[in-house]
Amino acid sequence: MCGIIGYTGGKQAAKILLNGLKRLEYRGYDSSGVAVIDNNRIDVIKSIGKISALEDKTDGGKKLNGFVGIGHTRWATHGAPSDINSHPHLSTDGNFAVVHNGIIENFAELKAELTAKGIRFASETDSEVIAQLLQYVYDGDMVEALRNVTSRLVGSYAVGIITSHCPDTLYAVRKDNPLVVGIGANENFIASDFAAALEHTHNFVQLGDGEIAKLTSHSATFFTADGEPVEKTPFRVDWDISQAEKDGYDHFMLKEINEQPKALTATVRPRVKGKDIVLDRINFDAKNTNRIERITIIGCGSAYHAGIVGKSFIEKYCRISVTCELASEYIYSDPITDNRTLTIVISQSGETADSLAALRLAKKCGSHTIAIVNVMQSAIAREAHDVLYTHAGPEIAVATTKGYTTQVSALYLIGLKIAKIKHTISDARYETLLSEIITLPDKVSEILADITPIREYAERFADRKCVFFIGRGTDYAASLEGALKLKEISYIHAEAYAAGELKHGTISLIEQGTVTLALTTQSALYNKMLNNIKAVQSRGGTVLAISSQANKQISEQSDGMLCIPDCDDDVTPVLTAVILQIFAYCVAAKRGCDIDKPRNLAKSVTVE
Ligand code: G6P
Repeated sequence: MCGIIGYTGGKQAAKILLNGLKRLEYRGYDSSGVAVIDNNRIDVIKSIGKISALEDKTDGGKKLNGFVGIGHTRWATHGAPSDINSHPHLSTDGNFAVVHNGIIENFAELKAELTAKGIRFASETDSEVIAQLLQYVYDGDMVEALRNVTSRLVGSYAVGIITSHCPDTLYAVRKDNPLVVGIGANENFIASDFAAALEHTHNFVQLGDGEIAKLTSHSATFFTADGEPVEKTPFRVDWDISQAEKDGYDHFMLKEINEQPKALTATVRPRVKGKDIVLDRINFDAKNTNRIERITIIGCGSAYHAGIVGKSFIEKYCRISVTCELASEYIYSDPITDNRTLTIVISQSGETADSLAALRLAKKCGSHTIAIVNVMQSAIAREAHDVLYTHAGPEIAVATTKGYTTQVSALYLIGLKIAKIKHTISDARYETLLSEIITLPDKVSEILADITPIREYAERFADRKCVFFIGRGTDYAASLEGALKLKEISYIHAEAYAAGELKHGTISLIEQGTVTLALTTQSALYNKMLNNIKAVQSRGGTVLAISSQANKQISEQSDGMLCIPDCDDDVTPVLTAVILQIFAYCVAAKRGCDIDKPRNLAKSVTVE
């Protein structure tokens, strides 16, 4: 997805903007550009391709003087990737430059209207209409002009604006698309996420829907959509900038895989007080909890898969029916949701457009909503009734790792909490599971201590065209995420199947050499899995088992085995996930893939 950085202060803007753009590279992009005000004139330089191309064109920023500017990484939606279609976009008179994330749905109408008035458009983008409209409506008051323009826009937008009419000022406005304002010492920033400005400040303000920011080096003022001044209190983001750097690892993904012990500890430990689970400010009293008749868990991609793992745990221990919904499907359904439904929306970024829309729909239906989110003060975190932050630290690699496992552990905490209140779990089982959850980080560390066996299997299978993942129960839920990881970063076709379902169709695809990863961590289902494994092998398939210690004897029945550390069957998905992440990573590395920025994918999908 596109990225935005903006600067106003006492330093040369272009260098800061280029640096910020590099921090945003992970979001995925196909072109980039910067605009800076120099001597009351806006200079724009843009380039298709990597930011290094923009650095070359600007001579590392030296070609652009000036202290106020905006920068953008573009992920093409309207108009092919090209220098012209890249942002920033200038108005025809050259007095306004804008960068835009999101989609202006009524841009064609606006463009036709402005074209009829003689305004000539340079690009094929929807975003250019914002710059052209500004030129058209500006009458000496920028805040008023921005109000006027945004009142005409339909769609979602985070916009950064500079104008030669106010050469010291950086403006921003947003709706349904993330944008934060960084408050520094004698300098201020706008950014589509914290990472872009984190090396300059830890103090941020979240711009609300429709709000306008007016920033100079020494002041930050905010206005409502009605033009009324509004006070905003900065919050502190404790993320360390080194967390957004590779720190000696070849890829962010590998770094983030290795950060999981720390991330899981940060999600769980502060919430465990003796034998109690305290979920921040979420009010799980007996009255509220006993009212819950059903739970709906909503997410996209890996967040949805975390929900499926959570479903089996919550249903087993809380005896409440749980449905998992893909956000993009939920929003166009007629959900059976009311005030006895608890809706849990999961999103690492907290900004996924489909998940945000689903949250709003659930609220509209009267449901109480809890968000499991990593990024502080993100839209989903702000709009849900309650929020449980995973505190995993910034996740830069597009393919989520620590984001996913911390979501799963947050769901375990919620499940145990509800089960305890509803008395649907014995004290002994509650205590066992709680201590299992607390010790998961150590067990993840055990896996990470020696990844050689995982790498060896990965390299052996890296040339395959298709890999199957099978499992039963919670192993099936974990398989879904394992297959997604492999698809995302290695481009190998991978499918996850409930092992018992193989015989109903998929087995026709098994042939000599087809690789199947069989998850066998569920002791009660061990014999059933054995039958499925034999069925695959008898058709010439190769089986790599991912097993628990208790089911180690599977090695005699399979073609290879990787074992997770000893743990309770109900929490194995966190550990199998780590093995499958490393497997996918090593396959992708062997195949020479762009692991942190897989083709066609974006970290945070803020458009529908
Ligand atoms: C994108 C990413 C996926 C991620 C999904 C949901 O599609 O590529 O890795 O799982 O969004 O992201 P969220 O931030 O809502 O968890």
